[in-house]
Amino acid sequence: MAPDVVVVGSVNLDLRIEVAELPRPGQTVLAGDPSRFSGGKGANQAVALARLGHQVGLVGAVGDDADGGWLRAGLDREGVDATHLRSIGDSSGQAFVFVDPDGENSIVVSPGANARVSPDVVRAAQPWLVDAAATLVQCEIPAPAILEAARLSDGLFILNPAPAMALPEELWHHVDVVVPNRLELAHLTSADQPPVDDADVVRLARQLPCEQVVTTLGSAGAIAVDGDRVAYVEAPRVSAVDTTGAGDCFCAALADALIGGLGLADATRHAVRAASLSVMAPGAQTSAPTRAQLLAALDDANGSG
Ligand code: RIB
Repeated sequence: MAPDVVVVGSVNLDLRIEVAELPRPGQTVLAGDPSRFSGGKGANQAVALARLGHQVGLVGAVGDDADGGWLRAGLDREGVDATHLRSIGDSSGQAFVFVDPDGENSIVVSPGANARVSPDVVRAAQPWLVDAAATLVQCEIPAPAILEAARLSDGLFILNPAPAMALPEELWHHVDVVVPNRLELAHLTSADQPPVDDADVVRLARQLPCEQVVTTLGSAGAIAVDGDRVAYVEAPRVSAVDTTGAGDCFCAALADALIGGLGLADATRHAVRAASLSVMAPGAQTSAPTRAQLLAALDDANGSG
């Protein structure tokens, strides 16, 4: 079956290391053994969408190595269509993920095959991009590939500008919704510092050449700016184990809700709830909620007023 959502993005092997504190510059910290998880912002978003019941196609690349085979097997188990996931070169993307006792993380990515995702790789998936209800992209693949995806997509085009990178001007003509965090919002607007409060978030969001901007605020929730309208969405209090991939789960659930016909504010509420569920277990994909889990959490939230 053709995908109703296409994700164009990265696939990484996450080596997750629990640390007592995140290392500061010049500091060496000792930790236990690393654990292997499937990751990469593109793959995380694809898996989260699949768990919400979508037919998802992932466009990108892994290496022609054992890690690439392992990552493909994981995507297959989750029901993600990897027809347009190429095997290029001899190293898959790897991410070194440090997680502290509060679930906060620092990540260093070695892109491997992700750096070789070209416009040609994207073009091969043109029929998917034309037919899908939505396309999601992030910034762990080269900008020319992102731009090609934007040019070819006919449905809703959602940009998650993570990690922050210089983006071609033309891209903004194609973006329907942009989903930065505070740091990425500052980068995109060339602000001197990250926004200091909600009003600052809204002020910076309105500087972007895009009507619909959803800024994620971690455990504080998110702010959706939709032209003149602003929705401030608080996150429920949860005990976080690992925030890795929470932003990816957020983007996936936002797309899910927008495809389903919700407006931006309600879609943001849906996404905040999904992301808050995803931080309660380790790993960037294993923790993404299924649709049944998300609906149960939304019911609970409505029941408790
Ligand atoms: O957003 C979380 C992801 O960022 C991790 O899975 C890691 O692979 C990096 O891409």
